[in-house]
Amino acid sequence: MKDGTVKVGRNDLCPCGSGLKYKKCCIGKSKPEPDDLTALYAKKYRIRLKQEADIQGIREAGRLVIDTLDLVEPEIRPGIRTDEINTLVHEYTIKHGAIPAPLNYRGFPKSVCVSVNEVICHGIPGERVLKDGDIVNVDITSILNRYYADASKTFFVGTPGSEARKIVQVAKKCLDLGMSMVKPGNTIGDIGWAIQTHAESKGCSVVREFVGHGVGFDFHEPPQIPHFGRKGEGIRLIPSMVFTIEPMINLGKKELVVLSDKWTTVTKDRSLSAQFEQTLVVTDDGCESLTPYET
Ligand code: MF3
Ligand code: CO
Ligand code: CO
Repeated sequence: MKDGTVKVGRNDLCPCGSGLKYKKCCIGKSKPEPDDLTALYAKKYRIRLKQEADIQGIREAGRLVIDTLDLVEPEIRPGIRTDEINTLVHEYTIKHGAIPAPLNYRGFPKSVCVSVNEVICHGIPGERVLKDGDIVNVDITSILNRYYADASKTFFVGTPGSEARKIVQVAKKCLDLGMSMVKPGNTIGDIGWAIQTHAESKGCSVVREFVGHGVGFDFHEPPQIPHFGRKGEGIRLIPSMVFTIEPMINLGKKELVVLSDKWTTVTKDRSLSAQFEQTLVVTDDGCESLTPYET
């Protein structure tokens, strides 16, 4: 309009970001009330927005998760069995009054996922011995005072080769770029778009079958956060949403195979795969990591 104000029609999308028509939402209100948005996101998307006390609880669980990653990091060297990483994570988690969320989750038999080289995710700790040049993702989810936080990093074992360096660098950058899209008004599709664009520009591929997810009250909550997609698509981000971004990036093709243990997921072409994950809360002007680490 000439005077600079934009007229919203009754049948247009509501400017509050709900995805509903204006006439079904904020028409007649001076501005959308947070309470309305909470109810709306719950009803329409099954998304449970977090209150400040919840966010503080998830932040504390997240502190424990990154402390546990820090505990594990110096122990990653050639010769260590993946089950030894499980023992470290399990004992440290319990000692701090928390519960390792993976243990018995849908039948998962261990307390942490440890995914080596061609393993994309959900590697079960066991007798595999890490060797010089491997890459290994350690994915930790802890439940502290009923709150869940979820984060992972991919580490080098000994001295990495050029392929290992490349895939880890690309996966890290994918998480960073995904996080940079997290702010009110942007959409879930913007996150996936940023990640996919970068990965593919480097000749790498994005796993489709596993996605980021709402987290905090439960291990996996709505919404799903795909690491691929189109700009502007999907649910609009609003403050106090809490979810993970956890791109799984393959050096070769995107296809995967789940092994006979029903968990271990590998690249079909057996190329290297790397992943980084953080738990984030959408703030008024961007996001805060509740599992902060430098990438
Ligand atoms: N931590 C994984 C995630 O990022 C989920 C692991 S499920 C498990 O969502 F059962 F394998 F632990
Ligand atoms: Co996760
Ligand atoms: Co995880």
